Amino acid sequence: MKQAGDITLHPAYSCWMNFKTYQKSADQSIKKYCRFILTKISSRVVNTAVNELSAAIEGIYHIKPREISENHDVPCIELSIEENNSADSNQVCGFTIKHINEKTTDKIVISGTDECAVLYGVFRFIFSLGLGKSIDNIQTEQKTYNRLRMINQWDNLSGDIERGYSGRSIFYENGKITKNYARIRDYARLLSSVGINHIVLNNVNVHEEETKFITDKYLPELKKIAAVFSDFGIRILLSVNFAAPIVLGRLSTADPLDKDVQRFWHETANKIYSYIPDFAGFLVKADSESSPGPYTYGRDHAQGANMLADALRPHGGIVVWRCFVYNCHADWRNRKLDRAKAAYENFVPLDGRFKDNVVLQIKNGPMDFQIREPVNPLFGSLEKTNQVIEFQITQEYTGHQIDLCFLPSLWKESLDFDTAAKGKNSLVRDVVNGKLFHTSTGGIAGVSNIGDSPAWTGNPLAQANLFGFGRLSWDPALSCEDIASEWATLTFGSNVATVEKITNMLLRSREIYEDYTCPLGIGWFVNPDSHYGPNVDGYEYSHWGTYHYADLKGIGVDRTMATGTGFTGQYKNENAQMYEHIESCPENLLLFFHHMPYDFVLKSGLTILQHIYDRHFRGVEEVVELQKIWDSLQDEIDPDIFQEVRHRFELQLKNAIEWRDVVNTYFYRKTGIPDEKGRYIYP
Ligand code: GCU
Repeated sequence: MKQAGDITLHPAYSCWMNFKTYQKSADQSIKKYCRFILTKISSRVVNTAVNELSAAIEGIYHIKPREISENHDVPCIELSIEENNSADSNQVCGFTIKHINEKTTDKIVISGTDECAVLYGVFRFIFSLGLGKSIDNIQTEQKTYNRLRMINQWDNLSGDIERGYSGRSIFYENGKITKNYARIRDYARLLSSVGINHIVLNNVNVHEEETKFITDKYLPELKKIAAVFSDFGIRILLSVNFAAPIVLGRLSTADPLDKDVQRFWHETANKIYSYIPDFAGFLVKADSESSPGPYTYGRDHAQGANMLADALRPHGGIVVWRCFVYNCHADWRNRKLDRAKAAYENFVPLDGRFKDNVVLQIKNGPMDFQIREPVNPLFGSLEKTNQVIEFQITQEYTGHQIDLCFLPSLWKESLDFDTAAKGKNSLVRDVVNGKLFHTSTGGIAGVSNIGDSPAWTGNPLAQANLFGFGRLSWDPALSCEDIASEWATLTFGSNVATVEKITNMLLRSREIYEDYTCPLGIGWFVNPDSHYGPNVDGYEYSHWGTYHYADLKGIGVDRTMATGTGFTGQYKNENAQMYEHIESCPENLLLFFHHMPYDFVLKSGLTILQHIYDRHFRGVEEVVELQKIWDSLQDEIDPDIFQEVRHRFELQLKNAIEWRDVVNTYFYRKTGIPDEKGRYIYP
């Protein structure tokens, strides 16, 4: 029984599965099929599917469906697993929703290639009700693009979340694993509803106590959490500490070629699987930002990853190995040094040496989740290695879930990027799903943006990013427009004007954020450590040089082969040439690739300095517009949600004004040359 104060009663808690909203949209002609759910399958995940379908039907149509296992020629919804396919373990997960109306049969059939696919089909059917689809247009056939659709929690045992902006962890509290299974279950449900099938339960930075997650001390509790996720077809992974053999006090080395170290990991894997039979594997951050790794022992990343892969192989597990490895920063003394080059330099020489149950997890850009970066050149350069692209759903550099920033706009750019690796149309999305180079597995990973806030994501509008991440990992060909409007409809109802306004706000938001923060691809004007708010020279690793090299005359990083760091040469031919030359380099990345004089004239006819100045003003004006649009929705939106978002827009406006003034003053002071119209003297 729900009580007042129960978080699940918060209007934003049910996210995009708010059945009260669906009630108004759902087509009444579908109701007649909802009295019976027919299924002959008895399995854990199909049971979940039946329960989800029943709950949705009750919530939307106020009827309690009966579950039947025989066909009684009554209108019903049938759940089934497609024949022929089920024996093939390599099949791609997919489902169909059909309306069959012949002679004595009138039913809706949701069939999947396996039990998880049935559940995805059920969620899609439920979404169709929320989207107001009629019986004639609920029919669909879908296959997922990616085998791995993975969430990374950056949660610590303390309950803190690294780069979390939505409260505390739902998994951990004060050094203990929580027993908050109801909340975890609701999370599993949200993730599964958008097709997520893997989750990493702990931070990539594995501290001393979390290193013990792979021991008897924590595995009994983790097993219970894994079981909650299993009900929704989601398999868990754990981030592990490469130095665990030492930290756990068993050995004096973590050398991957050491026999005792290998035995340690084999025994560890056996133990984990004895608790969690469907355990998916390890995520490893090694030799990165002070995490230990194979370099300490003179070994390379392939040797490190393969050693763990061998331990997991007998159980069918995988090693997800991160490529966020760098050993240099910006440096005035040696401008040839370039952090952007590091991932490629570390991993391309190892292509072909990773075992087939190793997957490299590569951040979308070569730096670190800035508002605009080019695609990481590892995509297209690794031809014999499984890969996953890593996005950050949590808004570390993109507004801390205070500022509105719809990230699918950014992710789509990466996924649709043509690497030119095998001629035209060698898209990143086909690299990571394994199609382009015929690699055996791959997909998409995202750093979660949820915590224990009633709305899950702090700002209710940031739910759109979690939703969008799931939808894109299922089908990267979806458009941002479709994702945004689908989310807005499911969350706020089908009022066309409301949906249009919210969709529009989401679609504009990334560029607005870019305008008042770091235009032209420059990035890094952030406050140290928090990474929120402006501080042009502030980024914590700016010891020997700022990441933008702004001086009296110009700004930007020369990454050309001709005169710079040579980073452009890591791209395949056409792309290398495109970025190498100022004329062909996309303007929104100009300062990422080139050090330019402030008075360089852009295509708009404005100088770079004027452009930076104007964009910061435009960004602020646009936030004011967002605010106005939101205010116009007051009567359409639940009052609590309305106020929460409204408050965040107030903070966003303050932030945007601060960015405008700090950045523009910085460049005014730096250059000391107001243009002839005096336009960068503040009004
Ligand atoms: C960023 C972030 C860190 C995080 C790291 C990573 O640098 O600021 O908090 O640990 O990325 O991806 O490992």
